[in-house]
Amino acid sequence: MTHSSATAPASVPVPVTVEDALRSRRSVRAFLPVPVPRSTVERLLALAARSASNSNSQPWQVHVVTGAAKRALSAALLRAHADDDGRGRDYDYQPEPDGWREPYRSRRRRFGESLYRDTLGIRADDTGARLDHHRRNYDFFGAPVGIVLTAGRHPLQGALVDAGLFLQALMLAARGDGLDTCPQASLIDFSPVLRRRLLIPDDQLIVCGLALGYADPAHRLNRQCTPREPVGSFATFHGDEAE
Ligand SMILES: Cc1cc2nc3c(=O)[nH]c(=O)nc-3n(C[C@H](O)[C@H](O)[C@H](O)COP(=O)(O)O)c2cc1C
Repeated sequence: MTHSSATAPASVPVPVTVEDALRSRRSVRAFLPVPVPRSTVERLLALAARSASNSNSQPWQVHVVTGAAKRALSAALLRAHADDDGRGRDYDYQPEPDGWREPYRSRRRRFGESLYRDTLGIRADDTGARLDHHRRNYDFFGAPVGIVLTAGRHPLQGALVDAGLFLQALMLAARGDGLDTCPQASLIDFSPVLRRRLLIPDDQLIVCGLALGYADPAHRLNRQCTPREPVGSFATFHGDEAE
């Protein structure tokens, strides 16, 4: 991949292979206050739009917020979060189950322990400190660029698959420029705020948020490394090896 790193911090390593991009992508939750040029964001979006979609329907749309617009959106989301008791949230689609089942329940618990206890040093019963961290979602973890991904609602499930492909492609394209990302379903807890502020029409499903910027290499939040299950645990091969 080519890259334009005019404003990239000199220390940013830029991966050049797809394998490097896949291996180095991780959710970054602390960013440097270094702006990302609009031309770079546009190029990454054009790359992500190379994603496959059902019948090339390309149902994705993005809203890119920076500067004053990002500050205003963050403030509105934080206000909504402060007033929120978890009831009466209005989701376009269900991002999480009502109750997690195994094996996902255990994986989720391990992820939470790794983030809050091991990385941030927050005790399980310290709900205040956990909330303080959670609130950082609404500032896009300090990233200079916030992205809200939406997709045409018809059909709902198909559009979600296509939007997911776009999201992954965008995160990998960002690695090609030495940039990092964090996908953020937490933003859709307040979809009506996003819809109102960004003038998102009703026929667009709000899929996810994404923070985009240069990772702060010194921040402890960025030391978290998430494990993966081995291929044998999720792949079933049918047929003979010789075929
Ligand atoms: C659809 C989606 C929504 C997510 N929402 C959030 C979020 O709201 N806040 C957050 O900090 N991380 C969020 N994540 C990041 C996941 O926690 C992360 O991808 C997972 O733990 C694996 O870690 P990794 O991305 O570092 O490999 C989200 C990821 C996905 C794919």
